[in-house]
Amino acid sequence: MADKLIRNAKTWMVSVVFFFFLCFGHITMAGQDTLSSNGKLAKELEVEKLLKTLNKPAVKSIKSPDGDIFDCVHILNQPAFDDPKLKKHKIQMRPTFYPKGSNFSKSNPIAQLWHQSGNCPKGTIPIRRTTKDDILRADSIQQFVKKINQTIPDLSGSLYSTNGHEYAISDLRGDRYYGAQASINIWKPHVQQSNEFSLSQIWIVNRDDSNNVETIEAGWQIFPELYGDDNPRLFVYWTNDSYNRTGCYNLRCSGFVQVDNSIAVGASLQPFSVYGASQYVLSILIRKDPGSGNWWMLLGNSTFVGYWPASLFDRMSEGASNVQWGGEIINNRDHGQHTTTGMGSGNFPQEGFGKASFYRDISTVDRNNYLVSPNYLSTFATNSKCYDISPYAKSNDWGVYFFYGGPGRNQNCP
Ligand SMILES: *[C@@H]1O[C@H](CO)[C@@H](O)[C@H](O)[C@H]1NC(C)=O
Ligand SMILES: *[C@@H]1O[C@H](CO)[C@@H](O)[C@H](O)[C@H]1NC(C)=O
Ligand SMILES: *[C@@H]1O[C@H](CO)[C@@H](O)[C@H](O)[C@H]1NC(C)=O
Ligand SMILES: *[C@@H]1O[C@H](CO)[C@@H](O)[C@H](O)[C@H]1NC(C)=O
Ligand SMILES: *[C@@H]1O[C@H](CO)[C@@H](O)[C@H](O)[C@H]1NC(C)=O
Repeated sequence: MADKLIRNAKTWMVSVVFFFFLCFGHITMAGQDTLSSNGKLAKELEVEKLLKTLNKPAVKSIKSPDGDIFDCVHILNQPAFDDPKLKKHKIQMRPTFYPKGSNFSKSNPIAQLWHQSGNCPKGTIPIRRTTKDDILRADSIQQFVKKINQTIPDLSGSLYSTNGHEYAISDLRGDRYYGAQASINIWKPHVQQSNEFSLSQIWIVNRDDSNNVETIEAGWQIFPELYGDDNPRLFVYWTNDSYNRTGCYNLRCSGFVQVDNSIAVGASLQPFSVYGASQYVLSILIRKDPGSGNWWMLLGNSTFVGYWPASLFDRMSEGASNVQWGGEIINNRDHGQHTTTGMGSGNFPQEGFGKASFYRDISTVDRNNYLVSPNYLSTFATNSKCYDISPYAKSNDWGVYFFYGGPGRNQNCP
């Protein structure tokens, strides 16, 4: 990885220098402090170019109270169709399993902050506008587009040394999975610094014989470097090559095809849960459509947000080998101490309902396209003194559920 970063940096330097000779050689001859300012100019041009590809012409724009702007973009103009592989893709407006949706337990409807300022007309989808600041917050332009050093929770043991990523998760394997669902309690835990995150998500993973990993991931996350604030946000993610060349959030690269005009991936979720008070959940179902093979994402029982096209994946067309539900944080150990970034609600699972974060309505989709709730879930925490997970349980109201999370640094987690 370090190698790759250096290589990336080198490629970047080479193009900057090349660009500089090509276009601004004459300025250099004349001027003094030219290398750095021309480097800056080159980067600025690169940023402009990226903004132009990412931000599509809008039918209407909506300014959210948190400062985000949502562009209502014609559905066929969305970034997914920039990928040559998807140029000829025929958009699917409804999966064939419709109306057979889900059976989430009762909860409040999902709401996003920007809804307070308006909505997108039919035939368009809301896309969070990328700003210059969004790009400049990343260490490099490559990093802006792609989530680097990403890992999946791997129970085989290598997990303990994964670049400061820590997990408290439940895990299911041993069969083929054609989807998964859960209602994830939404919180706003503390995130210590901008290059750390706290997320709660579903992982649908296929690891094939040659150890290549394909994933579909969705949930909520707080990630200041990515979004510029510490609000919990809905996100989607995918990779088809073990996070090597592919892997990005939301609509930052081609991949996820959105069809819904009411939900924006990458947008703040509000309301979220408050300690000892109202609880809110994000009910997510990801389900492979038996007709098209596309992996659909529903929120609640009936909001068809969009899908990951079947053509993005190779071996996962025969289902996934593994599903995980839980939390992940990054611990950068600033000043040699464990981070105070919280997972879940920022409280340990032992605190229970209203205080600790939970997953409920946990099910997977089997090869016959039935929702089934697991008979057994293994649960696992990388460092239970910092973040923990309860054993799973089952009830009539909640289906299969568990509590998870923690505060990070504390007496037992120095
Ligand atoms: C990514 O991983 C490499 C190798 O472990 C490490 O040197 C580098 O600092 C990491 N980068 C980030 C941004 O975490
Ligand atoms: C899903 O549908 C069930 C059964 O109709 C209903 O009780 C439940 O409130 C719905 N859940 C959500 C999140 O809409
Ligand atoms: C990542 O992709 C590059 C280029 O395709 C390849 O050479 C390299 O082996 C890959 N690395 C891993 C870890 O798969
Ligand atoms: C992974 O996705 C990229 C981008 O769409 C595509 O070019 C590549 O062929 C895919 N790889 C596999 C193994 O499907
Ligand atoms: C949803 O369906 C699954 C599979 O039939 C069942 O096991 C689970 O209890 C149901 N959950 C709820 C909340 O009704």
